[in-house]
Amino acid sequence: MLSKALNKALNKQVQLEFESSNVYLAMASWAEQEGYEGIANFMYLHSDEERMHMLKIFKYINERGGEAEVPALGKVEHKYKSVVDMFTNVLKHEVHVSSEINNLVDSCLKEKDYATHNMLQWYVAEQMEEERLARTLLDKLKLIGNDKSGIYMFDRDLNSGGGEGGEKG
Ligand code: FEO
Repeated sequence: MLSKALNKALNKQVQLEFESSNVYLAMASWAEQEGYEGIANFMYLHSDEERMHMLKIFKYINERGGEAEVPALGKVEHKYKSVVDMFTNVLKHEVHVSSEINNLVDSCLKEKDYATHNMLQWYVAEQMEEERLARTLLDKLKLIGNDKSGIYMFDRDLNSGGGEGGEKG
């Protein structure tokens, strides 16, 4: 059985994963409007993945006798100055999610809830991968700079799955 405190902390993570899904959905929309088809498709997929991250925790809470709650969600940013600006925000967001996952792991250890600790190990690995991917894409974009043909190729590569670096959960 989940403690009340962990139930609350996990519901907070549900909210963050849900918000992540919306943040990336808005990014997909921005990219689509700007004509970046590959980046848009990449962000649509990423948005779906975040919904899956949310659902995994949501169901876990109920499986452990807790109460999963559908959270109220805040407004998300719909405008970006550039592709670099957008991916800078992706990395910033993922670093924030990683730190929240770390806090959750810490709470599990303090409470000796090893089942939840075990469930969260998937998220620890996933966050490392998400941060790595965001950093790799941002590094590429910094190399490309203002070169329009470079951005065109970057967009095309993402459309053919070039940014994923393998299938993730
Ligand atoms: Fe589920 Fe990218 O955090």
